[in-house]
Amino acid sequence: MKVSVKVPATTANIGPGFDCLGMALPIYNTITIEETVLPGTGIEINVIAESSAIDELSLEHIPQDENSLVYKAVQLLYNSIGQTPSELKINIRSSIPVARGLGSSASVIVGALVAANELLGNPADEVALLSIACELEGHPDNITPAIVGGLVLSSLEEDGSVVYRKLDWPSEWMITVCVPDFELSTGIARSVLPKEVPMKDAVFNAQRLGMFVQAVNTKDKELMKLALHDKLHQPYRMKLVQGLDKIIDNLKHIDSVLGCVLSGAGSSILVISEKNDLDKIKNIVKETWADQNIKCDLRTVSVEQNGAKIISDED
Ligand code: HSE
Repeated sequence: MKVSVKVPATTANIGPGFDCLGMALPIYNTITIEETVLPGTGIEINVIAESSAIDELSLEHIPQDENSLVYKAVQLLYNSIGQTPSELKINIRSSIPVARGLGSSASVIVGALVAANELLGNPADEVALLSIACELEGHPDNITPAIVGGLVLSSLEEDGSVVYRKLDWPSEWMITVCVPDFELSTGIARSVLPKEVPMKDAVFNAQRLGMFVQAVNTKDKELMKLALHDKLHQPYRMKLVQGLDKIIDNLKHIDSVLGCVLSGAGSSILVISEKNDLDKIKNIVKETWADQNIKCDLRTVSVEQNGAKIISDED
């Protein structure tokens, strides 16, 4: 038997929602798991680049042995029902840029779990899948939208369960994903964060996250402009993302721009704006990075409302 799962990319944090806000985007990885017939063949993992935006060097960061997140995800699921995985061929067709803050690792964890679950006759429900996936990833902000789609606010509870609620993203707000040609590993981007933050910074983010929820619920552009700020992670990561400070500065005078934030742990940047001025916005991002010898891939997308989906080979 063979199962393929298409999983969306995700962007996390989105300004004030460090480790709790995330959104699915229409860029996909497809994870296929096939039971092989020969006993003792073990688990084989192959990674194939589907997009020209992905270079082979990036793909080398995806381990293909038992250190692979895919392998660990499958193992955790099998173990949860008292079994051990064996004789599996796993193919990852990758279109999500790696180490760019677009949820590439969450997508392979989720894809492997959903595919293995289907192979096993669906022993795990959504609650169990969310919990296993977050055990591997450590935080729910990319995992939850990769599984359920849309814009999602989620929390990882002390018992390992995930509580989430979907929010409606106003369709008139455009999301421009700006992917630079340099990588940033989440491990490095998390290592620069402090263990504790000043109370005033925690209060700042609590205020902005409240504003964010109200702004999307009421499509309040001016409130969203106030909401899309952060003091918990972005200031510490600024030095790792060349050009971010300049891009924010160069876009702040354009009225249609609601905000410019780091996507997840970086290195990609999101520009949230109204429909007008998209070309101008893209030119500013491109030229600001070009001044620093950085090439980029820019795409304006809408929210992907579907999460991980089992597909037939023809899809
Ligand atoms: N919330 C996470 C972070 C997302 O900012 O580190 C990246 O995995």
